[in-house]
Amino acid sequence: MAPSVLPSFLSAFIISMLMIIFSASNLVPFVVSKQPRCGPTHRRGAIPIHPEDIDLMQFPLNLEHLEADFFLYGALGYGLDKIAPELVMGGPPPKGAMKANLDNLTRDIITEFGYQEVGHLRAIKSTVGGFARPLLDLSASNFAKIMDDAFGYHLVPPFEPYANSINYMLSSYAVPYVGLTGYVGTNPFLIGYKTKRLIGGLLGVESGQDAVIRMYLYERAKELVHPYNHTVAEFTMRISNMRDKLGMCGKKDEGVTVPLELGAENRTSSNVLSADYSSLSYGRTAAEILRIVYGSGSEHVPGGFFPQGGNGRIARELLKN
Ligand SMILES: *[C@@H]1O[C@H](CO)[C@@H](O)[C@H](O)[C@H]1NC(C)=O
Ligand SMILES: *[C@@H]1O[C@H](CO)[C@@H](O)[C@H](O)[C@H]1NC(C)=O
Ligand SMILES: *[C@@H]1O[C@H](CO)[C@@H](O)[C@H](O)[C@H]1NC(C)=O
Repeated sequence: MAPSVLPSFLSAFIISMLMIIFSASNLVPFVVSKQPRCGPTHRRGAIPIHPEDIDLMQFPLNLEHLEADFFLYGALGYGLDKIAPELVMGGPPPKGAMKANLDNLTRDIITEFGYQEVGHLRAIKSTVGGFARPLLDLSASNFAKIMDDAFGYHLVPPFEPYANSINYMLSSYAVPYVGLTGYVGTNPFLIGYKTKRLIGGLLGVESGQDAVIRMYLYERAKELVHPYNHTVAEFTMRISNMRDKLGMCGKKDEGVTVPLELGAENRTSSNVLSADYSSLSYGRTAAEILRIVYGSGSEHVPGGFFPQGGNGRIARELLKN
């Protein structure tokens, strides 16, 4: 019995598959008759990488390194030195990075983000070359200082970035968003199609990371961040306001809840995504970004996440002046 059932089932299956293929190929004959067109991916005669693109596209390596080690350590307890030592290029190990006490969902997300940053580093370094990982300060005390600066007083006890998922996500709130505003700001300066394609791909994923982090925080906007008398929403507003102050170029950073005039079309007080008047992402220059990530308000004065400053021609030249 059984031996005859199987072949008849199989032959019926094969006949129906053939009918599907046959009818599909009648409807869309090019599926079988021609090579599908998957290009062109750039204009004919366009140049891949203009010499002026190189420094511009290397600069973001500073932030990508910061993200890579913050996320990898946070999720896994180790960083780029173990996962892709060739991308470190001899830079010193990050200060104070450690495994965070994350719930499973958060750990899965951050693990993915960490590996994504490895891909970003590899993509940038293999396209435009790169430099050694700068010294990074990922210590709890550095994050505590950032939060103190954001609130304008000493939080007691000091904020602990690695203590739990919400604290870690609040600390992460500070990271991809700065990168994404940098990519938006850099885009108009690029000439080559390869570098434009690269920045488009980087911007897409950085924005996605930022959206996931913001959504996580928006869901918990009204919760108090233990043991402080401040809500998650208030933390985001304070961090964003501080970044605007350090950047010194106007409103480019918004918390997860906002007054209506900063919401989409002046009609939402939710602000899952931070964006301008036309709901377009804000852009920042390299100097603005350095003022923020140095925590000093000056692109000439290193500190914050980069105790010795960023690497690469753009950051080093700004540091000298
Ligand atoms: C979290 O993951 C660990 C190990 O992967 C597993 O043992 C544990 O049951 C998970 N916890 C929850 C709440 O799913
Ligand atoms: C906590 O903050 C709320 C709102 O800002 C305020 O009304 C309340 O008095 C504060 N509670 C404590 C214990 O400080
Ligand atoms: C939002 O409100 C501001 C004034 O607060 C106004 O200038 C702007 O045009 C409004 N934007 C839209 C999209 O309606």
